[in-house]
Amino acid sequence: MILTVNLQNTSYDIIIERGILKQADRYLNLRRRVLIVTDSGVPEEYAKTIASLSQAATIVTVEQGEESKSLATYESLLKTMLEQNFTRKDCVVAVGGGVVGDLAGFTAASYMRGVDFYNVPTTLLSQVDSSIGGKTAVNFCGIKNIVGAFYQPKCVLIDPDLLKTLPKRQLASGLAEALKMSLTFDADLFRIFEEESVEEQLDTIITKSLMIKKSVVEQDEKESGLRRVLNFGHTIGHGIESEEKLHGLYHGECVALGMIPMCSPEVKCRLIPVLEKLSLPTKVTFDPEKTLAAMLHDKKAEQNTVTVVTVGAIGSFQMQKLDKEALRCCLDILR
Ligand SMILES: NC(=O)c1ccc[n+]([C@@H]2O[C@H](COP(=O)([O-])OP(=O)(O)OC[C@H]3O[C@@H](n4cnc5c(N)ncnc54)[C@H](O)[C@@H]3O)[C@@H](O)[C@H]2O)c1
Repeated sequence: MILTVNLQNTSYDIIIERGILKQADRYLNLRRRVLIVTDSGVPEEYAKTIASLSQAATIVTVEQGEESKSLATYESLLKTMLEQNFTRKDCVVAVGGGVVGDLAGFTAASYMRGVDFYNVPTTLLSQVDSSIGGKTAVNFCGIKNIVGAFYQPKCVLIDPDLLKTLPKRQLASGLAEALKMSLTFDADLFRIFEEESVEEQLDTIITKSLMIKKSVVEQDEKESGLRRVLNFGHTIGHGIESEEKLHGLYHGECVALGMIPMCSPEVKCRLIPVLEKLSLPTKVTFDPEKTLAAMLHDKKAEQNTVTVVTVGAIGSFQMQKLDKEALRCCLDILR
C-alpha cells in the first residue's frame, strides 16, 4: 500500500509492504553516495541490504540508545559525510528506530543545507509515528529534542517483517503510540485493541495509525495547532521519562502511563484493561515533585500552566489548561 503525505512543496510516499526492504531501490534513488545510519541493536543485515542496493554506500553504526541522539554523534556523521566527499546530490538513509531516524534526519537536514533523506523504520514506534512528519532532532544539555529541524523525508519504507526481531517489550512500547492515535481519532482502531489479537492485526494497526498521523501532519505540518494532539499522554509521559534512568521505562511505556490521568472515568475503564493486555504499565513509583518540575520545564509549559490533551469519549479529544495543583492530582492517579 502507498500513502502519500500531501504537503505544499515536500510531499512524499510511505510504502507499507512486507518484504519491501529487499526491493528498496524500487522506491529510493540509491544510485549515488548513500550514508546509511543504523545502531548496534538493529540486526546488521537490514543496513547491509540497503548497502547492497546502493551504488556507493557507507554504513555508520552508532551505539544503541537515546544517548546517541547527541551533538557528538551528529558531528561524527557530518564528519564522515565530509570525508567521503558527499555532495548536495547524495543522500542519507536511516535504518533503525526513532533514535536513528531523528539523528540521521537532522544530519540530512543540515549537511550542505539539506540532502535527500529516506527513512526505513525498524521499530513499531518509528513505523507508526516518528518516521513520518519530519521532526528531526538531537538532545542537548539534558533536554530532549531541543536542537533540531522540521525536515520531511523523500520517502518512507515500512516493512512490518522487520519487526520480527524486535523484542516484545519494544513492540508494546510502539503499540502505546498507536493506542494514542486510536483514543484521539479512531474508535474502530481502539476496538481492535480491545477485541482482537494485536499480532494478527499488526498491519492494520500500522496502516490506520499512519493514516491518522498523515492527516494531522497535512493539516498542521509545523505544530502550530492540531498537531499538538499527538502530544496526548506526553506531558506526564515526558515528566516520568525525565526520571527514566530511575525507572528504566521506554518512551511508549511513559506515554501509556501519561494517557491514563487524561481520560474521563468511562474511557479509563476501557483503557486500563487494554494496557494490561498489551503488557504496558498502569502504575509507577516516582517522585511527584521532581516529575511536576520536569513537566513545568517542558517546552509546552506556559508560566505555571500546561496545555494538555484530554479524551472524554474514545475517538475525540479536547485541549485543556491545567495548573500545578491539577497536574499534581493527575500524577496521584498513577501511584
Ligand atoms: N520524530 C518524531 O516525530 C518522534 C516521535 C516519537 C518519538 N520520537 C523519538 O523516538 C525515539 C524512540 O524511538 P524507538 O522507540 O524506536 O527507540 P530506539 O530507536 O531507541 O529503538 C529501540 C531499541 O530497539 C532496537 N531495534 C530497533 N529495530 C530493531 C529490530 N528490528 N529488531 C531488534 N531490535 C531493534 C534498537 O537498537 C534500540 O535498542 C526517542 O528518541 C523519541 O524522542 C520521535
